[in-house]
Amino acid sequence: MILVTGGAGYIGSHLAIALLKQDKEVLIFDSLELGHTEIIETLSKCGKLKFVKGNLKNLDDIRGVFLANKTIDSVVHFAAYSQVEESVKNPQKYYYNNVYGTLNLLNAMLEFNVKKIVFSSTAATYGEPEYTPIDENHPQKPINPYGKSKLMIETILDDYDKAYSLKSVRLRYFNVAGADSKSEIGEWHEPETHLIPNILKANSKKSFKMYGTDYDTIDGTCVRDYINVEDLAQAHILALEYLNNGGETNYFNIGTKQGNSVKEVFAACEKIKQCKIPLEVYPKREGDPAILVADNTKAEKFLNWHPKNSLEYSIKTAYDWENVLNKK
Ligand SMILES: NC(=O)c1ccc[n+]([C@@H]2O[C@H](COP(=O)([O-])OP(=O)(O)OC[C@H]3O[C@@H](n4cnc5c(N)ncnc54)[C@H](O)[C@@H]3O)[C@@H](O)[C@H]2O)c1
Repeated sequence: MILVTGGAGYIGSHLAIALLKQDKEVLIFDSLELGHTEIIETLSKCGKLKFVKGNLKNLDDIRGVFLANKTIDSVVHFAAYSQVEESVKNPQKYYYNNVYGTLNLLNAMLEFNVKKIVFSSTAATYGEPEYTPIDENHPQKPINPYGKSKLMIETILDDYDKAYSLKSVRLRYFNVAGADSKSEIGEWHEPETHLIPNILKANSKKSFKMYGTDYDTIDGTCVRDYINVEDLAQAHILALEYLNNGGETNYFNIGTKQGNSVKEVFAACEKIKQCKIPLEVYPKREGDPAILVADNTKAEKFLNWHPKNSLEYSIKTAYDWENVLNKK
């Protein structure tokens, strides 16, 4: 059985649905603070799913899961807070949830002798890019508490391997986008901070805010690497296989090697929505690097992972999901 923490959230639910469709047994552990009961209900119809509501900040909650489910043999750990701006204003909330919560999880894993974990890390652990595309040798100098909390966990995972042989794969995601191909699940954040859903949600009452048009990029707007959420789920499945085959602790960038500017994404959204989207332009925000693109060669080589879905496909599925969400 695979334990998925944070599986009622955006990315975790996409991994869960992929695993369930492969007939794997999945246990989702989620506080539902940011995740959604409706997502769990949908996933329950797709296969052998168990759901436990609990919080990683309570050691007894997560110990209880291992105690009652002795067949758990690996963990995929998504549960975290992940809003950069909020982490700057309230670092306590981020270190407590992300770092302390993860320590409880890891300590429960050790107690019950579960020694394989795939961890959601982030491009935010690199900080200001010193070169592009960013490979895994790029220095990790995060510039906000969110990125720092994730780097701390990466460090802890290295030490837990050396001392206790707990094997981990850290996947450093770039910008995740899109939704399930059948619109069963999708991105559902409140508030939403990600670019594509915010462009798609814009309307005559609330225009889309574009920050910065004077970056040193192809058209003056920020360039990011958009990785489709189903391709990302596949990377987790391959990372689990890698660990099951005796793979050593490792870390991989999960992106596409390709960048798209905010203006390009905006134009692609207008094309898919088939209408003009109201737009307001604002000055640059502090801490937004001009270009963030992943060199994903290492994941291709070690995991045999090759992202397949285009940016247009991600936007199309996000738009279809947005229409489902509007009816909820
Ligand atoms: N979305 C992105 O673009 C992106 C990029 C890089 C990294 N990540 C990382 O990927 C992971 C998943 O991101 P997401 O966008 O799916 O987030 P999300 O907010 O949609 O999902 C996170 C889930 O974790 C749960 N959770 C949080 N703290 C918990 C706790 N203490 N105990 C139990 N459950 C808890 C929430 O209720 C939620 O369901 C996060 O770790 C995030 O930092 C996301």
